[in-house]
Amino acid sequence: MNVAAEKVALISGGGAGIGLQYAKELLRNGLRAVTLVDINKVNGENALKEISEEFGGDQVMFVKADVTDKEQYEEAFKQTVDKFKNLDIVINNAGVMNDAIWERQISVNLVGTIHGCILALENYLPKYKTESEGIIVNVSSVSGLEKFQAFPIYAATKRAVIGLTRAWGKEQHYWRTKVRLLALCPGVTDTPLLRECLERNLGPAYQDIMKGNIPHLNVQSAEDVALSLIYVLNNGKNGSVWVSEHGESPYEVGMPSRHQLRRT
Ligand SMILES: NC(=O)c1ccc[n+]([C@@H]2O[C@H](COP(=O)([O-])OP(=O)(O)OC[C@H]3O[C@@H](n4cnc5c(N)ncnc54)[C@H](O)[C@@H]3O)[C@@H](O)[C@H]2O)c1
Repeated sequence: MNVAAEKVALISGGGAGIGLQYAKELLRNGLRAVTLVDINKVNGENALKEISEEFGGDQVMFVKADVTDKEQYEEAFKQTVDKFKNLDIVINNAGVMNDAIWERQISVNLVGTIHGCILALENYLPKYKTESEGIIVNVSSVSGLEKFQAFPIYAATKRAVIGLTRAWGKEQHYWRTKVRLLALCPGVTDTPLLRECLERNLGPAYQDIMKGNIPHLNVQSAEDVALSLIYVLNNGKNGSVWVSEHGESPYEVGMPSRHQLRRT
């Protein structure tokens, strides 16, 4: 089974890092077309060129948009269905790791993901999916599952993304929309976000914690996460949460109910 075959995807933050690799891996798996949405025009245009050279230009479009602005983000959805006629897979991947500008970070990582979920779930996927099911992938992080001391606010946004996915990934929404939701939590991955994060925190005490973490990091490539995405798309149940780390095969994380977690 390969759910990407002959489908159309939209990827936020698709101009660089892991998002760009998601696009390439989906195309290698038979995707018909992809829209890259990115706030950074240079990133978006470079990615468009790179993908066009490898896969041909008819299959890819770049739309400059800020996911925190619902109208701008919706414009990318509109242009996608105008050009490619369908929309099947939406990947809410755009994110920043910058606790120094934490209100903006909450907007990008959480509000942007909420905009993407509402647009995809309540309108575009049910209406424009090619076959019987649409898919939303929300990109969280292992830091949303752990106590990430160096970036507490980033970690909170990523925990929230898991909460959204699990709540919208319940049966009653599925029966109504035929949209499956998945959360993908990458571990430490070599991208501009990681390379630039050291000073993007709340101050020297937080930098010291991050510096202490660095020797222990087991860094994977963006391509590793993209391979995990394909597995998760093909195998993940609605509302499930997956980790992709250390360049290994992804694994699903159980989310016990509060009753199971209760201390006795
Ligand atoms: N790199 C890691 O170690 C790592 C680990 C876990 C999770 N993640 C998550 O994976 C996702 C991708 O991260 P990455 O490492 O590829 O980052 P990156 O910085 O390399 O790329 C992110 C892309 O998103 C774009 N973007 C940022 N804000 C945007 C906005 N408001 N609207 C539209 N586009 C926007 C950027 O211009 C950039 O092209 C993020 O959600 C990140 O939190 C990354």
